[in-house]
Amino acid sequence: MHTVVETDVLIVGSGPAGASAALALSTYGVRNMVVTRYASLADTPRAHITNQRTMEVLRDLGVENEVVARATPQRLMGNTTFCTSLAGDELGRVRSWGNDPLVQAAHELASPTRMCDMPQHLMEPVLVNAAIGRGTDFRFSTVYKSFVQDDAGVTVTVEDRLRGDEYTVRARYLIGADGGRSQVAVDAGLPMGGQMGVAGSINIVFDADLSKYTAHRPSTLYWVLAPGATVGGIGAGLVRCVRPWNEWLIVWGYDVGAGAPDLTEEYALSVVRQLVGDDEIPVTIRSSSAWTVNEMYAETYANGRVFCAGDAVHRHPPSNGLGSNTSVQDSYNLAWKLKLVLDGVASPALLDTYTAERAPVGRQIVTRANKSIAETAPVFEALDGLSPQTPERLWANIAARKDATEAAAEQRAALREAIAHKVYEFNAHGVDLNQRYASAAVVPDSTPDPGFTRDPELYHQPTSRPGAKLPHAWLTSGTRTLSTLDTVGKGRFTLLTGIGGEAWVRAAEAQPLGIATVVVGPGQEYEDPYGDWARLGEISDAGALLVRPDGYVAFRHADAAEDAERLLTDALRRILGHG
Ligand code: FDA
Repeated sequence: MHTVVETDVLIVGSGPAGASAALALSTYGVRNMVVTRYASLADTPRAHITNQRTMEVLRDLGVENEVVARATPQRLMGNTTFCTSLAGDELGRVRSWGNDPLVQAAHELASPTRMCDMPQHLMEPVLVNAAIGRGTDFRFSTVYKSFVQDDAGVTVTVEDRLRGDEYTVRARYLIGADGGRSQVAVDAGLPMGGQMGVAGSINIVFDADLSKYTAHRPSTLYWVLAPGATVGGIGAGLVRCVRPWNEWLIVWGYDVGAGAPDLTEEYALSVVRQLVGDDEIPVTIRSSSAWTVNEMYAETYANGRVFCAGDAVHRHPPSNGLGSNTSVQDSYNLAWKLKLVLDGVASPALLDTYTAERAPVGRQIVTRANKSIAETAPVFEALDGLSPQTPERLWANIAARKDATEAAAEQRAALREAIAHKVYEFNAHGVDLNQRYASAAVVPDSTPDPGFTRDPELYHQPTSRPGAKLPHAWLTSGTRTLSTLDTVGKGRFTLLTGIGGEAWVRAAEAQPLGIATVVVGPGQEYEDPYGDWARLGEISDAGALLVRPDGYVAFRHADAAEDAERLLTDALRRILGHG
């Protein structure tokens, strides 16, 4: 007899997108099931840079501490080093990932969380264990085959690889979090822009104690300018720290037109030897795999009851470390909307805002990541290392920068400038935090768009304008110190107000939705001892912010309002898709 299993949300894939969708849905009490192709989670490090926004998401989902405990901390991430090999000449460094003193201050001001380096093979178990612990029905060795949708749900055929048979899952909604070769996205007919296979790349995972070349300049990334390093790949050879300082991953390019080289252990070892530059160090090759640099994004993330998240809808190189971050944030955006629609609180129209909010982000990060690859070329150009790429020429040019000539001084200046420009890849705080949404789940107020006063890719600019993430400010509650972000989330809408905002509190309490209320001010449950919230909130004490479950401001009213209940009810009607 053909088995039919029922669930509310079926998730295909257990990578960062699928695992975090499962975790968020289970946290919100939504019945969900994950099917995933293999018998294990990611077995290689893959994505690793975990930015502040993702850490905020993980904080809300209750796994931040576990991630911090397992991750490499921010202070060991931050000297992106350019060299001819780890043992060779150093060409310069970029203070990275919030480790520049000014950027570090910006990170502290922007969020209660710190970024960290959490390789994917460590991250996935944290997300999946927590999801299963909260109720996710998780099925390894189960492959998505096809779906059919109707007015009431989606019927999905999956294959159980252990038993070798197929069965059917009947779900109200389907999430395709099945990665860069997403079959769900293909079957849903999601229109894609851009192109796949722009360049060829190889990952080589290996063990070696490289502390003598790395511990004094702790970094996640060591970039190697060497002959052949501009062929394919991600801009240069890369030695990436997986665990300080004896687990590593090399990224090395190949000519995509010629096809991937034969990934023998001997080949992998030769690449490791070239990039490390010290043949005396014992090396154990763990694995090698070929992949391609892609520049592709979906214009639409959904078709009816089928939604895609993560690499299924945005495919790009690892530059800027945006892959798993954006995937987690996609799922976090979608999960609360599914919850409210499944509960009958919101209209299905709310789900349309998923594409409206996340597709522009996907497009932006695909573009940024590929631009970052192109921005490595000036480092080579400064050394005249692009033409022609003979080892002798490159080494001679690199050596020439030590000369006491005007030409060498110019070369040094060009090299410094080219390396410094790489902040757009390694310290782009605005890329991480500046997403602002425009959709039907955001009620604009009458204020003009503040835009950005500084470079929006480098600098985060908080605002409480609807569509922006709630600004972080430290509050106190009794003896506790907590972030404004800690007062929101947990799957609920929250209304923030202050002294004089009683009408807003009453209006929130009158909503059947169950809105949490936060009153900030002297003698209230929350106080603002530093005056940070007064400075950042952009409302008067008697004004109000309505914050969505994902921490984004949905509605703002700068002052007290006599008709607070009508204003809030109207706003919620719009946000929840009831017209
Ligand atoms: P992800 O690809 O992680 O997960 C897809 C999931 O779907 C997997 O669990 C897969 O088994 C499952 N699946 C696929 N088809 C299925 C089907 N038909 N049925 C059931 N399950 C199915 N990024 C980075 O920033 N730095 C890096 O160095 C690397 N390196 C790297 C190496 C390799 C080998 C890969 C594959 C990827 C990277 N990445 C990376 C990219 C990064 O891993 C990626 O951006 C995120 O994992 C995206 O997360 P997703 O959950 O969207 O897809």
